[in-house]
Amino acid sequence: MLRILLLVICSIFIFVNSTSSSLSVHDNFIRCLSQNSPPHLSISKILHVPSNSSYSYLLESFAQNLRFSSPITPKPLFIVTPLIDSHVSATVICCREVGLQIRIESAGHDYEGLSYTASLPFVVLNLINLTSISVDLEDNSAWVESGATVGELYYRIAEKSPVHGFPAGICPTVGVGGHITGGGFGTMLRKYGLAADNIIDAHIVDVNGRILDRESMGEALFWAIRGGGGASFCVVLSWKVKLVYVPPTVTVFSVARNIDQGGTKLVHKWQTIGPKFDENLFVRAIIDAADHGGNRTLKVTFNSLFLGKADKLLDIMNESFPEMGLKTNDCNEMSWIESVLYFSGYSEGSTIEVLRDRTPQRKNFFKAKSDFVKEPISESVLEELWKWCLEEEKPILIFDPFGGKMDDIPESEIPFPHRKGNLYNIQYLVQWYDSETAESTEKHIDWTRRLYEHMTPYVSSSPRAAYLNYRDLDLGSNGDDKTTTTNYHQTQSWGLMYFKDNFKRLAIVKGEVDPQNFFAFEQSIPPLILNEEERNRAKKKQMVWFY
Ligand SMILES: Cc1cc2nc3c(=O)[nH]c(=O)nc-3n(C[C@H](O)[C@H](O)[C@H](O)COP(=O)(O)OP(=O)(O)OC[C@H]3O[C@@H](n4cnc5c(N)ncnc54)[C@H](O)[C@@H]3O)c2cc1C
Ligand SMILES: *[C@@H]1O[C@H](CO)[C@@H](O)[C@H](O)[C@H]1NC(C)=O
Ligand SMILES: *[C@@H]1O[C@H](CO)[C@@H](O)[C@H](O)[C@H]1NC(C)=O
Ligand SMILES: *[C@@H]1O[C@H](CO)[C@@H](O)[C@H](O)[C@H]1NC(C)=O
Ligand SMILES: *[C@@H]1O[C@H](CO)[C@@H](O)[C@H](O)[C@H]1NC(C)=O
Repeated sequence: MLRILLLVICSIFIFVNSTSSSLSVHDNFIRCLSQNSPPHLSISKILHVPSNSSYSYLLESFAQNLRFSSPITPKPLFIVTPLIDSHVSATVICCREVGLQIRIESAGHDYEGLSYTASLPFVVLNLINLTSISVDLEDNSAWVESGATVGELYYRIAEKSPVHGFPAGICPTVGVGGHITGGGFGTMLRKYGLAADNIIDAHIVDVNGRILDRESMGEALFWAIRGGGGASFCVVLSWKVKLVYVPPTVTVFSVARNIDQGGTKLVHKWQTIGPKFDENLFVRAIIDAADHGGNRTLKVTFNSLFLGKADKLLDIMNESFPEMGLKTNDCNEMSWIESVLYFSGYSEGSTIEVLRDRTPQRKNFFKAKSDFVKEPISESVLEELWKWCLEEEKPILIFDPFGGKMDDIPESEIPFPHRKGNLYNIQYLVQWYDSETAESTEKHIDWTRRLYEHMTPYVSSSPRAAYLNYRDLDLGSNGDDKTTTTNYHQTQSWGLMYFKDNFKRLAIVKGEVDPQNFFAFEQSIPPLILNEEERNRAKKKQMVWFY
């Protein structure tokens, strides 16, 4: 019944653009929000409508991908910026009550803009005012609210200790909420795994507006939100993260070589040794185009963090990768928090205060895709890949090595399944800056699609694997189908790519906690509702824990 009601309300809203019906959804939402918020806090501070200047500020400053910041991008009816947890509950309850979609936004880095756009009438729940972080060194943990960025988390940890850190993403402006719930990896993944592997508790708001922790949500849901994409299940309010040890001195380097001056051979060898190095060593390879007085060539940059001192690093490299010719003066010793700045491209001399700055250094239009590589790619195929890159204006390929700790964690431990057997992850990224014509936008996107097609034989298959945090709607979409009949079998084509065998288990958890599919969006997990017999079978196979 609720489903039909929601459909009716939404349809009226879309098709009968009369002020009376849109006014009533509008007014009902506001009335509901006031009724469900604590009386001492007026909702006028947390509710933003298009006529408020804060509305466009919040939309524009958060949208990281300019592709979804155009006048034709669908905009929310309201943006709600909760100050306390019960505001989040109220927003969930009221979106359900009046039949509006909800979009949860922590820091807006979603590659396809799914945290701030939707095709049906919607509300953006923006967590900008839920950013507190408390670090507890004695417990080796920290509670961090979803609206904080990973840069703020790193900063708060470093403020208290030079030998503690957290293994999450490289870009400091990434939001803790979206990033961790999608997996999250950076320079310490070979030593400590993903951000989602290092979560010990969480607070959420469920579909009924209840505030729950690990114990009260149960292990099934707690499993699902660590890598399965929380927005399909609930709103994550905060995470309790496990701090990890970092040595007082780490070493970084960046060594660049032209592709046509031996670079290809280095990349070819890197494929087999990058994932096998000592787990304290992370060396990624970034391929991009360089201009030499009008001659365009490609270069590869080996960009590295070593959790230790330079002399030890030089020994390792001399032994395993002498071809690269790493020299003493390529190496920079520093603290771990300084290495965070180094990797995020801040200029030398920046203080760590910049990590508290939420605005990205620059924004652009972009499209990305991802792959996992299990067998080294031959030199001749690499050469072909470089030719593709020379066709595109600003292509970037990022090869992140796996192995180490990633090999030790079972595929079903959390929903992120890309573990043992993967040598490295590829991100194919194209960026463009000016607001070019729609035609040229199409041209850039088309390039990524053709390249992806071309790479099919050389990367993981059955399923071809993809990383959720590099979201790609080309893989498949639920479209506007926000009904409970969103078909599990139809969504398998992309679900298996992100989650492999964990997809079914995610769908079962979804069927348990949100059977009406309120938390629905283009790539949300569909509810798989089991009958009694299937439930018992699943239980026996320990596919899922029931309450
Ligand atoms: C410049 C840049 C650099 C990046 N670098 C890395 C990197 O080094 N490593 C890496 O692994 N990834 C990286 N990413 C990808 C990044 O991890 C994902 O885009 C991530 O989802 C961003 O989280 P967010 O909170 O900023 O985004 P948002 O757009 O706010 O959210 C992303 C998704 O998560 C959902 N969501 C957000 N908050 C919540 C919540 N509180 N509860 C439930 N659901 C929520 C949203 O609805 C949306 O579906 C990078 C992305 C960009 C743009
Ligand atoms: C939005 O505008 C209304 C009406 O002018 C005002 O009452 C409200 O406080 C504004 N909201 C915010 C968040 O500034
Ligand atoms: C919410 O966050 C915004 C942006 O950081 C800030 O300007 C505003 O003052 C905050 N609002 C409240 C009520 O704390
Ligand atoms: C550009 O390439 C041409 C042809 O290979 C070469 O002769 C020329 O020196 C190059 N210019 C620069 C600035 O490298
Ligand atoms: C590298 O190792 C070789 C022996 O394996 C040694 O002769 C050489 O001096 C080493 N070079 C450096 C820079 O340590």
